Amino acid sequence: MKIGVLTGGGDCPGLNAVIRAVVLRGTREWGHEFTGYLDGWKGPLENESIELGVGDVRGILAQGGTILGSSRTNPEAIEGGVDQVIDNVRAAGLDGLIAIGGDDTLGVARILTESGLGVVGVPKTIDNDLNATDYTFGFDTAVNIVMESLDRLHTTATSHHRCLVVEVMGRHAGWIALHGGMAGGADQILVPEEEFDLEQVCRQVNRSFEAGVAPIVVASEGAIPAEGSELTTAEGTDAFGHVRLGGIGGWLAERIEENTGHETRSVVLGHLQRGGTPTAFDRVLATRLGSRAIQAANEGEWGTMTTLRGTSIELAPLADAVDESKVVPPERLREAQALFD
Ligand code: F6P
Repeated sequence: MKIGVLTGGGDCPGLNAVIRAVVLRGTREWGHEFTGYLDGWKGPLENESIELGVGDVRGILAQGGTILGSSRTNPEAIEGGVDQVIDNVRAAGLDGLIAIGGDDTLGVARILTESGLGVVGVPKTIDNDLNATDYTFGFDTAVNIVMESLDRLHTTATSHHRCLVVEVMGRHAGWIALHGGMAGGADQILVPEEEFDLEQVCRQVNRSFEAGVAPIVVASEGAIPAEGSELTTAEGTDAFGHVRLGGIGGWLAERIEENTGHETRSVVLGHLQRGGTPTAFDRVLATRLGSRAIQAANEGEWGTMTTLRGTSIELAPLADAVDESKVVPPERLREAQALFD
């Protein structure tokens, strides 16, 4: 078989581990050949590709980013885009595609499958907000980066008797804030799933100082103040209709200082959470997902995606990943809040 591989959406530690597993297993076990499409759906849309052999994936396991490049190109948003992708992939003599991406990329994969082009998906996002899989690779790396940052921020906050607000990624789901905040001993965690009350946040900051703690407030970029709306940093939306979020950290820090009188600063972790080498957990998860994906393609199980269920790697319909996103349930927040001063 000849199979195309692409990585779409925001990059994520572990993408190269998936590509490596697909190519190594596919070549060695079944003698398949691979084409790497460049920059997400832009590759098959504009016929930009490279040949991918065993030699091309050597040494990339620990490498962050993606050797194939990525983009948020959406063939559905371009007139005739979906048909163009199908024509180009067929003209290249490929039997199908392995698409590694989040809900946007897998949403396009689903449409292509329904239009007759075989695609197997591999779920990816640092946000961990994809349904049908217990964890996405990249999430563990991001959480570790948040944890290490909080460990460092605690010492400087304490030395200066300051409150620090740490803004982390997470558009509509607060998994990074929750797990990063729990692992790093945050004093408050604000997530998009529950609007926060500024007065309550300030009361809690005062309580922390009274208890002798210089508090750290972790806020998802998509956290929303009650009677307010999410904060954006740019006009317009991307090809999948997403606004660019950001600014909640600075917004909050200003108001906390104003209302409590305690000096408050903000730190935006931003793309630091997405860059660099994956953790051991993400390398193993990405490798297992990639290995199962090429097996699915080999067996013609198109229209599926690989998932982690407990400790097993399984297949699920692509539709399960894109129909609904996985958000933080209230009981997980209560669990973390029970530890605040
Ligand atoms: O979807 C993953 C994600 O990391 C979100 O948490 C964040 O809002 C977004 O990507 C940022 O994407 P970009 O780098 O394209 O602005």
